[in-house]
Amino acid sequence: MPETTPRGLTGLAFGGDYNPEQWPESVWQEDVRLMREAGVTMVSVGIFSWALLEPSPGVYDFAWLDRVLDLLHEGGIRVDLGTPTVAPPAWFYRAHPEALPVTEDGVRYEFGSRAAICHSNADYRAAAADITTRLAERYGDHPALAMWHVHNEYGVPVSACYCDSCAAHFRRWLAATYRTVDAVNDAWGTAFWGQRYAGFDQINPPRRTPTVGNPGQALDYRRFADATMRENFRAERDILHRLSPGVPVTTNFMTALSQCDSVDYWAWGREVDIVTNDHYLITDGRRTHVNLAMAADLTRSVAGGAPWLLLEHSTSGVNWQPRNPAKAPGQMARNSLAHVARGSDGAMFFQWRQSRRGAEKFHSAMLPHGGTETRVWREVVELGAAIDCLATVRSTRTEADVAVLWDWQSWWAQNLQWRPSEDHDPRERADAFYEALYDRHLTVDFAHPEADLSRYPLVVVPALYLMTKAAGVNLERYVDGGGTLVVSYFSGIVDEHDAVHEGAYPGPLRDVLGLTVEEFSPLLQGQSVRLAGPDGRELAADVWSEFVVPGGAETVWTYADGLPAGRPAVTRHRHGRGTAWYVSTRLGADGLDALLERAAEDAGLAPRTDLPRDVEVVRRTGESGSYLFAVNHTASDAKVPLETHGTELLTGERAAGRLAVPAGAVRVVRLDGR
Ligand code: GLA
Ligand code: ZN
Repeated sequence: MPETTPRGLTGLAFGGDYNPEQWPESVWQEDVRLMREAGVTMVSVGIFSWALLEPSPGVYDFAWLDRVLDLLHEGGIRVDLGTPTVAPPAWFYRAHPEALPVTEDGVRYEFGSRAAICHSNADYRAAAADITTRLAERYGDHPALAMWHVHNEYGVPVSACYCDSCAAHFRRWLAATYRTVDAVNDAWGTAFWGQRYAGFDQINPPRRTPTVGNPGQALDYRRFADATMRENFRAERDILHRLSPGVPVTTNFMTALSQCDSVDYWAWGREVDIVTNDHYLITDGRRTHVNLAMAADLTRSVAGGAPWLLLEHSTSGVNWQPRNPAKAPGQMARNSLAHVARGSDGAMFFQWRQSRRGAEKFHSAMLPHGGTETRVWREVVELGAAIDCLATVRSTRTEADVAVLWDWQSWWAQNLQWRPSEDHDPRERADAFYEALYDRHLTVDFAHPEADLSRYPLVVVPALYLMTKAAGVNLERYVDGGGTLVVSYFSGIVDEHDAVHEGAYPGPLRDVLGLTVEEFSPLLQGQSVRLAGPDGRELAADVWSEFVVPGGAETVWTYADGLPAGRPAVTRHRHGRGTAWYVSTRLGADGLDALLERAAEDAGLAPRTDLPRDVEVVRRTGESGSYLFAVNHTASDAKVPLETHGTELLTGERAAGRLAVPAGAVRVVRLDGR
């Protein structure tokens, strides 16, 4: 059995992507010396090195990598070794131009960037298996090897290829999934617009059509593309497991990035030995630390609650957004340790030494262009020391209070064309509910809609348009058993084939919510509706409204205007031993807070009025003890109540009663007696 933590690491992982091939060999010694100075414990090597390792077909040059790994090993630095299959060499594409992916418009991408891969291409598959085999044979038991890093960020920037080999592969996938073409016809509803197929050979990928194409076909193509990438991951992983037994295999995810929505990470989480994630701050004006917390919670959930590893984030600015602000002093450490609080067994960066050439030369690094006389370097060295103090946190698990349902497949379906309103964005709702829970200081686990939810007092369903019957039964069982459920509008509408559930909306949720939805009534841009509430307080909402017909549910907020004026907007239904809330419109932050305040009360979750806004408190617990992480994202000093005494690990001070957390700082208390 492969291990589930990087081999040979006793504390947390600290380091980054190391690309020595971009530098003359004379620099490598200095790299290792400075890595030691910064407290680096592991680096990721070789992710894009195929063209150097195999300079021409079948001719290999491992000597330079031998020297790099030996040097790192002498320096006591562990290696996360890449299979370079995300970057096939130029000679490969000259020989196999059809391995370049094709867009839905029929345009073939060119060589000259990275990740230009048709995952169905047989020549690519063979070449990837070959280079992986050579690496595994050579380094499978290298003493520096801590884990294997397959490929890089599957699914970006190309999420699907539409070429002829993919078409053939798609037909095989459909035949294996559905057996008969009539089953495909039924699932996709091809009776509509005369799209019926008489044989599998007539089916193509959903290439550009004059107007909207078949939604079932589009949805299945996303499943197929994801499954095809997973086939290729598995092929490499199995080679590594065979030739390098016991060494864990990972591939780096990007769980919460909306640009990377093409990968069903629930399925991927089951394939890797260690879940690893890349996270970058998206500077779109929203609170970046909330998105960071969400990404970390989602990654931990994909790992089934087990510790995971932050494999990439940035020391300061990135270079791929329209505007790339630097991180403020202290922000890097706050970011890194906030990931650790939420279950990461370390903090790694892209990249170690800032490149002088190539596309990412303006991306920050641990060792900036300016060298060691820089703020970033000093903060990196400080962070390395802090991470070293947290060694015993390794392998403990973050404790969550509530669950939020999350499903990539539902997201794929909701984002297909021709919906009631293009202003309804499921991801926006997930973010908004997450933020509202964050602001109530509740730690969130994400859960698949069919997962066991019984341990959570509160479960939130932000927008789950696609919901299987089994998921509906699961939610009903959860509420029956005493749980509190909050469901947002446009959930439970279609089944796994994007077919509307039979009967009134929301098919599988009618009973548990105690209502039906007669009609959607989306609002125009700039329009809003007012909701009249129980305590005389009015709430504002926009984007969406509905004609809700109660069937057992009580009305808590009522539409005060708009088309459904006088009808229920937010309802509450006692069902079995639990309670189910329904919200039929898009509430703003105030509204969500008012709703969650009541739902949390039903769930018996006491409000954390003792914690200031933007002071994050998270617990990790395990065999080595119980740790309280407090991250102060504000510009004022804060106090966090402690139920028991403990030792603050970063300062070594004893802590009791109220823990002082200076502005912008992080504190980690190992609680006594746990
Ligand atoms: C991704 C990639 C890295 C690098 C960083 C830059 O996460 O995996 O190779 O390009 O982005 O932010
Ligand atoms: Zn293809």
